[in-house]
Amino acid sequence: MKKAIFTLCAIAIGLVGKAQIPVYQDETKPIEERVKDALSRMTMEEKVNMCHGQSKFSSPGCPRLGIPELWMSDGPHGVREEIQWSSWSNAGWTNDSCTAFPALTCLAATWNPAMASLYGKAIGEEARFREKDILLGPGVNIYRTPLNGRNFEYMGEDPYLASTLVVPYVQELQKNGVAACVKHYALNNQERQRWNIDVIVSERAMYEIYLPAFRAAVQEGGAWSIMGAYNKILGTHACHNDLTLNKILKDEWGFDGVVVSDWGGTHNTLESALNGLDIEMGTDNRPDKRRTRVFQAKDCYLGDDFLNLVRQGEVSEEVLNDKAARILRLIFRTAMNTQKPYGNMDYAAHSKVARTVGGEGIVLLQNNAPKKGEKALLPIDPTRYGKILVVGDNATRRLCMGGGSSELKVQHETSVLDAMKEKYGSKISYTLGYQAGRTMYGSVEEVQQSIVDSLRNTAVAMAKEADLIVFVGGLNKNRNQDCEDGDRLTYDLPFGQNELLDAMLAVNPRVVTVLVSGNAVRIPYPDRMPAILQSWYIGSEIGPTVVDVLCGDVNPSGKLPFSFPARLEDCAAHSFGDIAYPGDGVKVEYKEDILVGYRWHDTKKIPARYPFGHGLSYTTFAYGKPSISGKTIAADGTLSLTLDVTNSGSREGKEVVQLYIGDDKATVLRPVKELKGFQKISLAPGETRQVTFTITPDMLKYWSEDAHDWVAEAGKFTAYIGSSSTDIRGKVTFSFE
Ligand code: BGC
Repeated sequence: MKKAIFTLCAIAIGLVGKAQIPVYQDETKPIEERVKDALSRMTMEEKVNMCHGQSKFSSPGCPRLGIPELWMSDGPHGVREEIQWSSWSNAGWTNDSCTAFPALTCLAATWNPAMASLYGKAIGEEARFREKDILLGPGVNIYRTPLNGRNFEYMGEDPYLASTLVVPYVQELQKNGVAACVKHYALNNQERQRWNIDVIVSERAMYEIYLPAFRAAVQEGGAWSIMGAYNKILGTHACHNDLTLNKILKDEWGFDGVVVSDWGGTHNTLESALNGLDIEMGTDNRPDKRRTRVFQAKDCYLGDDFLNLVRQGEVSEEVLNDKAARILRLIFRTAMNTQKPYGNMDYAAHSKVARTVGGEGIVLLQNNAPKKGEKALLPIDPTRYGKILVVGDNATRRLCMGGGSSELKVQHETSVLDAMKEKYGSKISYTLGYQAGRTMYGSVEEVQQSIVDSLRNTAVAMAKEADLIVFVGGLNKNRNQDCEDGDRLTYDLPFGQNELLDAMLAVNPRVVTVLVSGNAVRIPYPDRMPAILQSWYIGSEIGPTVVDVLCGDVNPSGKLPFSFPARLEDCAAHSFGDIAYPGDGVKVEYKEDILVGYRWHDTKKIPARYPFGHGLSYTTFAYGKPSISGKTIAADGTLSLTLDVTNSGSREGKEVVQLYIGDDKATVLRPVKELKGFQKISLAPGETRQVTFTITPDMLKYWSEDAHDWVAEAGKFTAYIGSSSTDIRGKVTFSFE
């Protein structure tokens, strides 16, 4: 009896207690109901208050109602260290070191969505553990020119590849209750004059090339937030652009999340209010800047001025409510989500992820014999070499530092030199060879010519005595290299590396070149450099990952996510004079239109040094003849294309089988072919696997500006199966009716 009374009381208390929980806090209620409830309780001031930052990396929530702040952090490939409340200086914490994952060009080079899932999960766990609500990444701006200082943060030149990889990243990240903030929306394809340059681009190029990866992140990945870019698009800043934010993102794609401005990317109150911006970040209009501790509403565009416009009826309250609703929805999905996991800072597990992704992303560009009669240099056969000389600044440099907002304070970063010593012990000697300057703003000009000469001479003398040279060069994260807020000044390797390579190769042809960069560079001596690895910014595990591939423990399987032009002028964006890049100071015109990257090289018959999709392996793959399930595809039908792929070499390896489709005769300009599918398969020596692709009518379409829609023209199409965009192993034709 006593027990029954107790139970009844408990239920009653429970019911009363439950009744006291406001709807917006009740996670059993649908999110839209909670949003509506919270909105009904908030004042106009409180709603406006949520629409701008309160510190460098947070926005305030609604303290009176217990609605928490939103905490944000860079960035695409690791969780950035804590930054001070109102300045860019670091906060000096000692518990904010992260795992640096490979930069996104490397993820793209894996051509493996499973790698993107692993990556998103691991970075999400770190972001969650650090109590972040929004991770400022991933970045999916299309690679238009190899000079862009931020290409390393993006996923290459092809919209299909970038779309395929961004989706699992976003999905896995967000399972941690941390929002992705996909950036930089949109057309942020150069850092030079990024604050104001006006991108003049056709609607077709936007829809076919520059927007698909953002659309995929939103519609398929379900991204909860997106970051506006710094540049203008067709006359208006991207952070408050009616076309890209209201019409395309929110109306056409049905985005229900939050548009966050890039830091300092907001310029106008009325435009921000009306054109789709939801949270303004990084505006620093404080009259006394760093002296005031707090950011105040009077100093923001979406602050007091916005409130006044709403009060005066110049901007309707509905507009404000829409922004507040989006922000509340985001807070419920993240900061107020009590069901989210705890995350973790399991450096060992995450380093393993970094090494696995890195190992799949490294691209073997070439692998030849240094001399007639000798074997290819890679993988390194230690029995052949007594003395291995490691040369180059990037063999020891802290490459997680620099680059701008994606700079990371890492728990560890193991250099290539340390990993080589670990692997090959006393066989290893090292010399710098060239010097890049240690600071973000260092440049070769600061290194005296006498030092350049003496470093080179020492390296050449040591190269003469060595059996094998592993040169670790490329770019770095200094300004005007792979770094934000500026572009590269030249396509060439910097810091005298061309001269150094020339001199070393002259005395010893056994040189393996490891290029660390997020961009293509001019390969100075393609015929004399026997082995070249494109190794990206791999992060914490750069050393062991590179050595895994050099020694053959990992068989390279990365494929280029962008073309490597032989000369800068072979690149589309550099083929129309300054107006197409860098622009005339006011605008930049995308005159190459849809012919970006391999679409240009193919269509204009200008071969790239290394084409899009290229990457060698230590084994070989034989492709069987592709067969297709029919001759014609109907508007509501599909075709299936099948082929066998065999590992014809003697090592286990992975191959990326690529499907391109071209419209053979069209009434509008179409690229020769476009990537429409790929599969990465793993094969033991001698093993054969059947690969099947489903061809759909959507794969045949182009964006028609007249119809303002995707259109496929009737006629003949060709499906190309390749190991790269130019190494085509089979073709089949079919018709669309
Ligand atoms: C960058 C963004 C970054 C933000 C915050 C900006 O300068 O463009 O990518 O997320 O700073 O650090």
